[in-house]
Amino acid sequence: MAKITTATLLKMKQQGEKITMLTAYDASFAKLFADSGVETLLVGDSLGMVLQGQPDTLPVTVEQIAYHTRCVRAGAPQAFIIADMPFMSYATMEQAFANVTPMMQAGANMVKMEGGEFLLPTIKALTERGVPVCGHIGLTPQSVHVFGGFKVQGRDDAAAEHILQQAIALEQAGCQLLVVECIPSLLAERISLALRIPVIGIGAGVVTDGQVLVMHDLLGISSGYIPKFSKNFLQETGDIKKAISKFVADVKSAAFPGPEHSF
Ligand code: KIV
Ligand code: NA
Repeated sequence: MAKITTATLLKMKQQGEKITMLTAYDASFAKLFADSGVETLLVGDSLGMVLQGQPDTLPVTVEQIAYHTRCVRAGAPQAFIIADMPFMSYATMEQAFANVTPMMQAGANMVKMEGGEFLLPTIKALTERGVPVCGHIGLTPQSVHVFGGFKVQGRDDAAAEHILQQAIALEQAGCQLLVVECIPSLLAERISLALRIPVIGIGAGVVTDGQVLVMHDLLGISSGYIPKFSKNFLQETGDIKKAISKFVADVKSAAFPGPEHSF
């Protein structure tokens, strides 16, 4: 696969080709995903849950994400890698400056941050300094204690309007990619149409510019609560490589996610 850049992703949106994203935490899976045509790999702080067995993502550290980013980069030298910024590692602009550095030096092409208004100056400053940023709105798991649980966001008109305005503001601040998590499909569609940058959904319906899944959900090996939006692709294929290829094919053809995975 040719090297993927922010320009590639933008062009894919313009041409109506769906973008695939999977979380990756190690070299072996990163290579499999890249070889299967997954365009973007996310070193998600979901690793706190699926690798460390924690109840949420809050315990994850900058050093841990940087370590796993190095592992993923080693396995997939050509991949477009997004490093997730951990809880409170970008609460101030100065913290963001200090903490994105090990991520980019570990081989990330982009960093991801959860949040809206408070992040706008940070995103502008990082982009000006050469660090591409992916936004993340809707259900932002680092705010689970504020939300009172992992709940769908943007259900009523006012909340939906607020999330749409956040998306527009994040693009204006310089975000080059946006993840929207657990929002009604109609809202995700409005956001995807309103923005020039690609919008990647998880639990956000089929009308986005791409889809992301946690790799453990795709393989059906997550323990405990399985979110409604996830799909076990291993079950119907019986083979890890085929499961990954099926995810890619189903995202490209808009067969996944179906209404049963959406809100
Ligand atoms: O940490 C993660 O895996 C994520 C995705 C679910 C978007 O942020
Ligand atoms: Na995350």
